Amino acid sequence: MLTLGVLASGRGSNFQSIIDSINSGYIKANISALITDNPEASAIQRAKNNNIDTFIIRPKDFQNRDSYYSNIADMLTGRGVELVVLAGFMRVVGRPLIQAFKNRIMNIHPALLPSFPGLHGQKQAVDYGVKISGCTVHFVDEGVDTGPVIIQAAVPVHDDDTEESLSDKILKEEHKIFPLAIKLFSEGKIAVEGRKVIVKGRREELSL
Ligand code: GAR
Repeated sequence: MLTLGVLASGRGSNFQSIIDSINSGYIKANISALITDNPEASAIQRAKNNNIDTFIIRPKDFQNRDSYYSNIADMLTGRGVELVVLAGFMRVVGRPLIQAFKNRIMNIHPALLPSFPGLHGQKQAVDYGVKISGCTVHFVDEGVDTGPVIIQAAVPVHDDDTEESLSDKILKEEHKIFPLAIKLFSEGKIAVEGRKVIVKGRREELSL
């Protein structure tokens, strides 16, 4: 069974969708720890409700970014974590964690990368006037939302969409593709070749 470590900064609805997918048997994995940088994160209560060990680890308690991310990497490694899941973790991950988990950190981003990286992907899409946006699950590398793309889902953007209405549409898709990506990883169906991710198995599994 795959051991996950989850990093989240806020509401934690993606975290919840992963918990639910594990509880229903859709994903065969266990969550060893929730790490958050935000003591106010609703994700903490979600972890408590599911008896998941929670650690509040804040950058301000460390000398620099490297020591912060080394500490997190050591903790995750020590707990036997095999895949790190960024479920609304609102920081750019530092090198020590990326190197410790090469192609084993997944992030969900609320836009069709490489469009609209960084913060407020949904607002960027509305402001730009694109007609289609969506979400992306990708492996994390040292850039900002630049790592190999695993799965994407698209949603239409209508003239009367706002940041909020688009965010709602995108979030529904996030809650499908993030568990799916983790499930495929847990089944050994994801291979990384350069910057391409090859998903083995039936194409139908990926029709969203
Ligand atoms: C989600 O929309 C996620 O895609 C986004 O933050 C939200 C977290 O919601 N992540 C990013 O923008 C990362 N750059 P949640 O806490 O309810 O899962």
